[in-house]
Amino acid sequence: MTKTETTYKTLVTGLENGIFTITINRPDKMNALNKDVIEELGLAIDEVYNNEAIKTAVLTGAGEKAFVAGADISEFGSLDKDGGAALARRGGDLVFNKIENCPKPVIAAVNGFALGGGCELAMSCHFRIASENAKFGQPEVNLGLIPGYGGTQRLTQLIGKGKSMELMMTGDMIGAEEAKSLGLVNHVLPLADLMTKAKEILQKIQLKAPIAVSHVIALVNDATICHPDGLAHEIERFGACFESEDMKEGTTAFLEKRKPVFKGK
Ligand code: COA
Repeated sequence: MTKTETTYKTLVTGLENGIFTITINRPDKMNALNKDVIEELGLAIDEVYNNEAIKTAVLTGAGEKAFVAGADISEFGSLDKDGGAALARRGGDLVFNKIENCPKPVIAAVNGFALGGGCELAMSCHFRIASENAKFGQPEVNLGLIPGYGGTQRLTQLIGKGKSMELMMTGDMIGAEEAKSLGLVNHVLPLADLMTKAKEILQKIQLKAPIAVSHVIALVNDATICHPDGLAHEIERFGACFESEDMKEGTTAFLEKRKPVFKGK
């Protein structure tokens, strides 16, 4: 694997046979998306757009437990309504929307927990494969929050209204096989085979005409376009949660490793 131009603190990247592998590398924090990871993912996606040697990309997480266990909850404490909305908007602009609209294929190899922002990151990719131990969910309600990186829109598109409502209201996690049966992931493999399978699929795609492939991406995105206001409303309501006592209780309880008590305030 060769290195590309940019070096990162929170990511490990490498380029081999046109495939750019981006590994989020905070395994002791379940690869949670803090400010640095978001900034660096933005730069790594820029590399995908701008480096002609990169033909396709795969996103994964370091270690054997987590793809990404969500946004970094420890960074929420200092944020008010505007700060919460700004966090969601910046992530969308720098990373999530840019991945979705990337003219080169970007897939997720989900190697463990894909929760909250992690599930949203995987869903912003063009498609997903997962290891048998992968778990998916949008557990923000446990924190007095909602998804803020497009989850309310993209999960609903991918698995339909009823199941999306249930997962986001209960905060339940689902396993890889259920995720496959819902259409959230395309293939489920033993963890040891996950990256081999990702590279096999990307090699196959790289033999096809790149311009035609980029048209496919744009048009499938057209067919599944979000409600024009959906993402904007999500950012607004995500910010609004930061004004609630329940959000303060939920995030504090997580960091104190106890169960939250919500009051509807
Ligand atoms: N933000 C910040 N830190 C996180 C995190 C997140 N989203 N997810 C995990 N971590 C940290 C934990 O605080 C812990 O840190 P510590 O070792 O300094 O105490 C470390 O990662 C390991 O996590 P832990 O909870 O001890 O591991 P576990 O195996 O018991 O549980 C999860 C794993 C993924 C089920 C659990 O970490 C979890 O529920 N994470 C939050 C998921 C979430 O709500 N995501 C949405 C965020 S908006």
